[in-house]
Amino acid sequence: MEKKRMLSGITTTGQMTLGNYIGAMKNFVSMQDEFEMFVFVANLHGITTPIGKEDLRRNIKNMVTLYFACGLDPKKSTVFVQSEVLEHTLLAWVLTCNTTLGELQRMTQFKDKSVKMKSENGTEFIPTGLLTYPVLMAADILLYDPAFVPVGKDQKQHIELTRNLAERMNNKFGEMFSTPEEFTPKVGSKIMDLQDPSKKMSKSAENPKSFIALLDDVNEVKKKIKSAVTDSENIIKYDPENKPGVSNLLTIYSALKEVEMNEVEKHFEGKDYGVLKEEVSEVVVALLTDIQTRYNQLLGSDEVDNWLNEGAEKARKIARKKMTKVLNLTGLNYKRK
Ligand code: TYM
Repeated sequence: MEKKRMLSGITTTGQMTLGNYIGAMKNFVSMQDEFEMFVFVANLHGITTPIGKEDLRRNIKNMVTLYFACGLDPKKSTVFVQSEVLEHTLLAWVLTCNTTLGELQRMTQFKDKSVKMKSENGTEFIPTGLLTYPVLMAADILLYDPAFVPVGKDQKQHIELTRNLAERMNNKFGEMFSTPEEFTPKVGSKIMDLQDPSKKMSKSAENPKSFIALLDDVNEVKKKIKSAVTDSENIIKYDPENKPGVSNLLTIYSALKEVEMNEVEKHFEGKDYGVLKEEVSEVVVALLTDIQTRYNQLLGSDEVDNWLNEGAEKARKIARKKMTKVLNLTGLNYKRK
C-alpha cells in the first residue's frame, strides 16, 4: 500500500523549544516509518519579525542540525530548507492574490504578535510579512498535497485557512490542490510557559525561565523546572483548568515517557511537587543529553549539507510539477490554453 504523505516545518526564530519538540518534532520522527514524511526548515518564516543576518544564519544552522539530532532520518524523510525551493514563494504570491485582508487580520497569531510588537517597542512598524505569513504557510503545504500536517494546537487556524484557500482555488480555476487535515498529538499539543502556565511555551518569551530550549545547558534546565510555577495544594492531579502548572509538568512527563495520563497520575499519587519536578527533570535532561550529543557530532559537518541538498532536490521536483499545474490553470502560463 502506498504511504500517505505528511508535511510540516518549524520556524527559525531562536531555538527549538521543548514545546516545538513535543508538539511537532517528536511526532515527525515517530511517524517517519508509517508516512512519506516531508519536513522543512521554515527560514522564510524566520524573517517575519526583524532579525540580523548573523542571528538568522545561526538560527538556521542550529535548526537544520537539530532536525537530524532529534532523529529525522534522511533515508526515510525528505528534509529541506524552505528558501531552497523557490516555488514556495511563487505559489505564496498567487495565493496572496486570492486571500482577503479580513481573513488575515482575523488570525489570532497576527493579532497577538502585532499587539505585542506595538506595546513592547511602542512602534507602529508591523512588518507585512507578519500579516501574510499564513499564506506562505498555505503555499508550503499545498505544493506537496500532504494528507496530514502534524502541528501543535496554535497552528490549527492556519491549517483551516489553508483548506479554505485550496477549495477556493479549486472552485475558481479547476482541481489543483488536495485539502489537508491537521494532525495534533493526543498529549502535548500545547505545552505551557513554565512561569505563566496560562500561556503557551514560546521561544520568543522574554524570561528565559519560561521555556526550555533543546540546546540549553542541562543544569540550567534543572533550575528552570525547579522554579516552574505550580500551586499551593501539593496534590498531583491532571486538571489544566484549576492546576495549569502541575498539569503542564504532568503533560511533559506523559509525552516524553509515552505513558497514558491516568498511569502518570497513579505513579505520582501521594507524592509531593518536589518529587514531580525531580522526575520531570530526569526525563527532560535524558532527552536533551541525547539530542545535544548528536547535535555536537553533526554541527558543521558536510553530511548535514548533503542531506539537505538531496532533500531540496526531491522537494523541488514535486513543487515544480505542482507549480506548473497552477500556472497553467490560472492562466499565468499564457502559452497554454
Ligand atoms: P512554530 O515554529 O511556531 O512551531 C513549530 C511547531 O511547534 C508547535 N508548537 C508547539 N506545540 C506544543 N506546545 C507548544 N508550546 C508549541 N509551540 C509551538 C507548533 O504548533 C508547530 O507545529 N508557521 C509555523 C511553521 C510552518 C509550518 C508550515 C508548519 C511554516 N510553514 C507548513 C506546518 C506546515 C510556525 O511558525 O510554527
